Amino acid sequence: VSVPAEAPRSDQAPANRPIGVFDSGVGGLTVVAALRRLLPNESILYLGDTARLPYGTKSASTVLAYSRKNVGFLVERGVKGVVVACNTASAVTVGALAPPVPLWGVLEPGARRAAGLSQGRVGVIATESTVASDAYGRALRALRPELDITSIACPLFVPLVEEGWADDPVAEEVARRYLAPLGERNVDTVVLGCTHYPLLARVIRRVLGERVRLVDSAEAVAAVVADDLARAELLAPPGRDAEHHFCVTDAGDRFARIGARFLGADRLSLEWVDV
Ligand code: DGL
Repeated sequence: VSVPAEAPRSDQAPANRPIGVFDSGVGGLTVVAALRRLLPNESILYLGDTARLPYGTKSASTVLAYSRKNVGFLVERGVKGVVVACNTASAVTVGALAPPVPLWGVLEPGARRAAGLSQGRVGVIATESTVASDAYGRALRALRPELDITSIACPLFVPLVEEGWADDPVAEEVARRYLAPLGERNVDTVVLGCTHYPLLARVIRRVLGERVRLVDSAEAVAAVVADDLARAELLAPPGRDAEHHFCVTDAGDRFARIGARFLGADRLSLEWVDV
């Protein structure tokens, strides 16, 4: 774990401040990757709450308490907005977090994109806690009450991705077991309702068939962040070097190892923080 020379400063003009992103661990780096593709000028301050992961098996009240701390940390560091990259945190904190800066969760943009694409039958795959919250179901029904929605928890997907087995026969076998009910229900659209699942897109397509539309909540939220920042005139001006700074709450090297794979980077420089 190395501490970069300069942490983001909060005395900058709002547009020059970083976008804050938090997740329970490395999974939220799929959101960072989507933000970087769409907003290459933006600096990002990322917090992975690695000391307390996983969130996907914990109760709503515990995840809400962790999320409040994470948001407080990012706001204190002077971010111009906070992205709740963790689907579980996004699902169980809907309406409960009210920082003094804009806040975006992955859930609403993902649900909106799925409701816009579906011909009537939607599958939601996510962690146990996200499925138990029924937050995706509620958001989808609010947009299109007639939708037929099947939600399935796929708890083995996260460790499979972190093990580097996302495109492996083992992942395909597990996916066949989990996703069978979605095939039986003939879903036409599936929400990848967990940070790690975009990395399983190929396997999921192999199991459910190429005609199923997969909704990547990471891409969906990045598009909303880009629109909202533009509208609020908070986009970072071009020509500055974007800085990406990663903080973790556990000092192990697991995040750096696995995170580099998520981002296609050689190495990530990390700062250990006590949140
Ligand atoms: N980041 C979590 C999510 O998107 C998955 C990992 C965890 O359970 O902490 O729900």
